[in-house]
Amino acid sequence: MLAQVSRVNQHIIAYVAIAASLCAFLLIDGVRAQTAEEHARHHPDQAATPAQPGASPAVAPGGMMGGLGEMMSGMHGPPPKQLYPTLMSLPALSADQRKQVEQQADERIRGGNSLMVEAVDALARSAASQDYAAMHEATVKLHEGMTQLESGIAARRALAEGRAPPNVALEWFRREMNLPVSAAPASVGLLGNMQFHIVVITILGAFAAVMIFMYFYKMRRAAHLLQALTGGGPSTPLARSTAPAPPATTVAPATQASGARKWSGKLRVGRIFQETPDVKTFRLMNSLGGALPFSYLPGQFLTVAVAPDDQPMKRSYTIASSPTQHDYAEIAVKHEDEGIVSGFLHNRVKEGDLLDFSGPSGFFTFTGRECKCILLIGGGVGITPLMSVLRYLTDRSWPGDIFLLYCIKTPRDIIFREELDYLQRRHPNVRVVITVSRPEGTDWKGPTGRITKELIVQSVPDVASRYVHICGPVPMMEVAKKMLIELGVPSGRMKTEAFGPALGKPEPILPTAAAAPSLGSEVSLPTVTFSVSDKSAPLPPDKVILDVADEIGVEIDNSCRVGTCGTCRVKLLSGQVTMAVEDGLEPGDKERGMILACQAKASANVEVEA
Ligand SMILES: Cc1cc2nc3c(=O)[nH]c(=O)nc-3n(C[C@H](O)[C@H](O)[C@H](O)COP(=O)(O)OP(=O)(O)OC[C@H]3O[C@@H](n4cnc5c(N)ncnc54)[C@H](O)[C@@H]3O)c2cc1C
Ligand code: FES
Repeated sequence: MLAQVSRVNQHIIAYVAIAASLCAFLLIDGVRAQTAEEHARHHPDQAATPAQPGASPAVAPGGMMGGLGEMMSGMHGPPPKQLYPTLMSLPALSADQRKQVEQQADERIRGGNSLMVEAVDALARSAASQDYAAMHEATVKLHEGMTQLESGIAARRALAEGRAPPNVALEWFRREMNLPVSAAPASVGLLGNMQFHIVVITILGAFAAVMIFMYFYKMRRAAHLLQALTGGGPSTPLARSTAPAPPATTVAPATQASGARKWSGKLRVGRIFQETPDVKTFRLMNSLGGALPFSYLPGQFLTVAVAPDDQPMKRSYTIASSPTQHDYAEIAVKHEDEGIVSGFLHNRVKEGDLLDFSGPSGFFTFTGRECKCILLIGGGVGITPLMSVLRYLTDRSWPGDIFLLYCIKTPRDIIFREELDYLQRRHPNVRVVITVSRPEGTDWKGPTGRITKELIVQSVPDVASRYVHICGPVPMMEVAKKMLIELGVPSGRMKTEAFGPALGKPEPILPTAAAAPSLGSEVSLPTVTFSVSDKSAPLPPDKVILDVADEIGVEIDNSCRVGTCGTCRVKLLSGQVTMAVEDGLEPGDKERGMILACQAKASANVEVEA
């Protein structure tokens, strides 16, 4: 990073140096060419009688000026033949001839301009690499550009101002030849420069400023991309804090990366792979081709919006592929029994289809910066976020130890089995232990049964010092957490993510005695008021605010309905709620009064902004 900063500094210095030298060049040139004092020193006779507009040229066309075209042809750049000789006869020019001169002048202005732009660019590059020969070439080019630009502007001036063209041409020529200029001190402005020079200096200054701005802009974008790939840091918009999770039963919002920016749009199903009898991987690609239109962190999920049987539905699916893979994101979906969306994806979606997605979301991420080793514990399809972490860390040759304990029903249900074997063989820091809970009737030779304390201790040395990520069925996660705490792992070093409803829901919140429901009456139930929709309804103790909103037609966007994604966040305007899972809240949300409608229950009246 230091090297990067010093490179940035070098470039900035180069740009500033170029801008400064250009300005200095113009200032010196301007002073040299236009000071009346200097002129008076060389031509005391002429200094006393400054040339008048329209007066006769200082030198007759047939003399020095007569050879101007030829002489200029030996100078830098495309020889400015014809233009000055033509200008010499300006007063006698016909309308057509004037037009021609105007065109030529415009060409020179354009040509000179682009030469200068090229030269400044070349100068920047050569200055950065300290290539003095190239710098010299660039300055020669710059001078050529300036010459062309000046001749074009001079011609235009002569035509526009009706000034004696020979004077304009002569001034230019003398400057080029380092000869004292005519006595005319006209338009001498700030610091002895003519207005023209000030304008040119301003243009060049603005140009240098634009170049510097563009340089910084490019560097910032490059830094963001770098951060996204390396897992991010707290200082960039694509990054997130990776502090250890606070003690919590589920993933901690404090570890959230605001990192990957939220995106929504269509993704094309590029490939579908049958992983196990009931799990399919869907490879999702940019619908327009090229790289994915979003970036994400290992462990985040996407939300798909589909409408099986014209019923709009959303479900979340973790990205199992690695963020190092830019061209696609893969989700592995288990076909749940009777599952509407998983069934739709398995049975109706085919390669080439376009699906609506939003995301990435989620806080269950690990980028390798959090600690030097990681223990991943997965059950069933809960391996998806862990697989993303494993793929990402191995892709990046992360040097820390990676342990994966994976519990699955039968050997044929093992998702990513071949790849897990391969990664373990290829990366000495990867250890995969798979335990099969129903090995009966199979040729499984590995560990059997559920994940136990013994299996953890046997498989993971010094487990108490590990950072742990757990994802799987909720009962399995609860048991694993309990065992790890008993083995000395602080709860602050554990992160979990639930794919389904959480266990350990809060005690049912009953209406207060004063408001106890009388038989057949709903009046005494607490009421939830939706301030924006101006609707109210009773909130039974077994329902969450989102359920009631659905029932009475109040629209609250939602996705996972298990408190993980944060889509259903609404503001609590009055009253109090309890929530079984708060993972979807971001840091500071609680202080701002935000709640998750899919989790919020209340024992007294509440009002929310929805
Ligand atoms: C953050 C997050 C990430 C997820 N990542 C993945 C993933 O990578 N792969 C994946 O396959 N699923 C994942 N899920 C689960 C997924 O979102 C759906 O819940 C699941 O596909 C079932 O949806 P469905 O519409 O098919 O089932 P539904 O029609 O909603 O439910 C049908 C039946 O299945 C049961 N059911 C619903 N969800 C689950 C579940 N998760 N486990 C067990 N039973 C369930 C219901 O109780 C019901 O009986 C994730 C969920 C969340 C919140
Ligand atoms: S819908 Fe996902 S947190 Fe509520």
